[in-house]
Amino acid sequence: MPVTAVVGGHWGDEGKGKVINLLARDADLVIRGHGGANAGHTVVNEQGRFAVHLVPAGIFNPRALCIIGPGVAVHPGLLVQELDELGAREIDVSGLRVSTAAHLVMPYHQMLDRAEDDAREERRLGTTGRGIGPTYVDKSRRVGLRVGDLLDARSFREKLQFVLDRKAHELAAVGVRRPEAHQVADEYLTYAERLLPYIAETQPMVDEAVARGRQVVLEGAHATLLDLDHGTYPYVTSSSCTVAGLLHGSGVGPRRLTRGIGVYKAYCSRVGEGPFPTELDNELGERIRTVGHEYGTTTGRPRRCGWFDAIAGRHSSRVNAFDGIALTRLDLLTGFAELQVCVAYEVEGQRLEYFPSQVETLERCRPVYETFAGWDEPLGGARGWHDLPANAQAYVRRLEVLLEAPVQLIGVGEAREEIVQL
Ligand code: IMP
Repeated sequence: MPVTAVVGGHWGDEGKGKVINLLARDADLVIRGHGGANAGHTVVNEQGRFAVHLVPAGIFNPRALCIIGPGVAVHPGLLVQELDELGAREIDVSGLRVSTAAHLVMPYHQMLDRAEDDAREERRLGTTGRGIGPTYVDKSRRVGLRVGDLLDARSFREKLQFVLDRKAHELAAVGVRRPEAHQVADEYLTYAERLLPYIAETQPMVDEAVARGRQVVLEGAHATLLDLDHGTYPYVTSSSCTVAGLLHGSGVGPRRLTRGIGVYKAYCSRVGEGPFPTELDNELGERIRTVGHEYGTTTGRPRRCGWFDAIAGRHSSRVNAFDGIALTRLDLLTGFAELQVCVAYEVEGQRLEYFPSQVETLERCRPVYETFAGWDEPLGGARGWHDLPANAQAYVRRLEVLLEAPVQLIGVGEAREEIVQL
C-alpha cells in the first residue's frame, strides 16, 4: 500500500493519531500536509502518551522520515517547544524535515485570530487561537512569510518590515498593536537557528520516496466537516482537510494515492462553535464526554458530544471516496442500553438524505434515528471480529452500509495494539 492518506470523517478528534501511529510503524515517509498547531494528535505507545501538534505522529518510528509539508502553517516557536518536549522524553526527532515552502505563523496572526473571533461576538467561530486562519489569509494575499525565508536573515528582516507596513490598517482595525519588526525578526531568527537542521527542500525527498514505491503515510489533520469547501462553513478551519487537500499540501500527485482511510469515532464530537445535529445537550452527552475524556488535545476545551451522524459521515465518505474506514473508540460505547445513529435529517416536515451546505439549513435539521441494542461486554481485549459481541458487530456492519465503505480497523482502546483489524 505505497501511499495511504488518513483523513478525519466528522469534525476532528476522531483518533487519527492512533491510526497514523499504527500505519507509520511500517512507513518510510510520513507527511503532514495542511493545518498547523491547531491540530492535536494523541499517540499512546510503549514510550508513553504523547500529544503532537505540528510534528507528524510518525515521529515515533525512528526509521521514518517525517515531513512537515508545504501546505502546513508552522509556528516555529511552537515547533521548537514540541521538539524540546519530545527530546526531553528521549524521542529521536532527527528524522524530521520542515518544508521551506511551508508558511510561518507570526505573532500578529495569533493576535488577529483572537481579536477577529472576539469581534464576531455571537457569530464567533471558537477558533483554537493558534493564528491559523490569518496565516492562510496572508498566504492567499501573497504577503505570507515562509520557513525558507528564515534562512536569509537580512532578507527576512526586509520582508517582515514590508509585510508589517502592509498590515498596519488591518491590525489597527481590530485594535491589535503593531509589533516592532526588529523584535519579531530577532525572535524568529533565534528559532531559525534551532530549526536549521530540519529545514529542507522536501519535494525531492517526497518525489524519490514515491517513485521508489516506498511506504508513505499522509497524515490528515482536523477533518472533512471542518474543510473550507466541504465543511460547515463558516464554522470550519482555514485549510483543505480532505484527501485531495492533503495530497495537494503534501506535494503528492493524486494518481499516486493507493488508499484513503476515513477515521470516524463510534460516536460524534465537535469542539468550537457550529451546527451539530446529533449533539446531546443532556446527561447522555455528559456521559459520553466523561467516559471518553472528551476534552480538546490542543485547547483543553470540553468537546460537544452526540450520536453518530451517518448523513454527515457519508458526505465525507463521498467527498473523499474513502477506500476504508477506521472506526475508533467503539469500546467507549459499552454499557449503553441503546445506541442511536442518525440516518436522515428532517427539516420542516421534509426528509433530507444529504448533508446541506448552508449552516442555516443544517441548524434546522432534526436527526432521524435508527436505534441499536447496546452491549455490556468491555471490548478492550478484542483483537478479531469474533471477539466483538453480536450487538457491536451489528452496529459496525450498519455503519459500513451507511458510510458506503468497508470498516478495516476498529479501535477498542487507546494503545496502538488495542485494535481489531479486518
Ligand atoms: P481554527 O482552526 O483554530 O481556525 O479553528 C476553527 C474551528 O475548527 C474551531 O471550531 C476549532 O475548534 C476547530 N478545529 C480546528 N482544528 C481542530 C482539530 O484538530 N480538531 C477539532 N476541531 C478543530
